[in-house]
Amino acid sequence: MRPLHHAVFSLLFSDFSFVLYKNSQIVSYVYAAYNGNKGFIHIIATRAGLYRKKYASVLLYHLEKAAREKKLKSIWAYCLSDNFQSRSFFEKNQFIMQKEIDISTDEKRILFKKVINH
Ligand SMILES: CC(C)(COP(=O)(O)OP(=O)(O)OC[C@H]1O[C@@H](n2cnc3c(N)ncnc32)[C@H](O)[C@@H]1OP(=O)(O)O)[C@@H](O)C(=O)NCCC(=O)NCCS
Repeated sequence: MRPLHHAVFSLLFSDFSFVLYKNSQIVSYVYAAYNGNKGFIHIIATRAGLYRKKYASVLLYHLEKAAREKKLKSIWAYCLSDNFQSRSFFEKNQFIMQKEIDISTDEKRILFKKVINH
């Protein structure tokens, strides 16, 4: 977890972002933005060493709840194609892979979408 993420992104995305604290320490955060009826996860992360305790899934639950309140239809997310844990995370949380995008010759990203309001 990079400390800068919290300070900068919480200012930028304050109305559609969640931070999970435990014992006064940040353990996980999700920073997202929205435009029209689409939400977009810029970054979701859990502190190294605290993985697979459902911290990120809990934050996603709150983000989806906020998205429904805002009448968004979908939430989008992306990760590096070789980021296995992130891919598993989005798939486990019912995000559907849309396509793989070539960012450069040595970098590919996967775009995910989850419909939350029909
Ligand atoms: C992706 C990430 C946010 C998941 O955080 P987390 O708090 O560990 O996630 P959860 O505990 O809620 O995981 C829920 C599910 O995701 C999947 N998952 C998460 N980490 C996984 C791993 N290392 N290997 C396989 N599956 C994994 C599993 O299906 C898991 O459910 P299970 O443990 O019951 O099998 C975390 O790995 C992380 O911070 N990665 C670095 C930052 C990043 O790549 N963010 C995503 C792109 S913005």
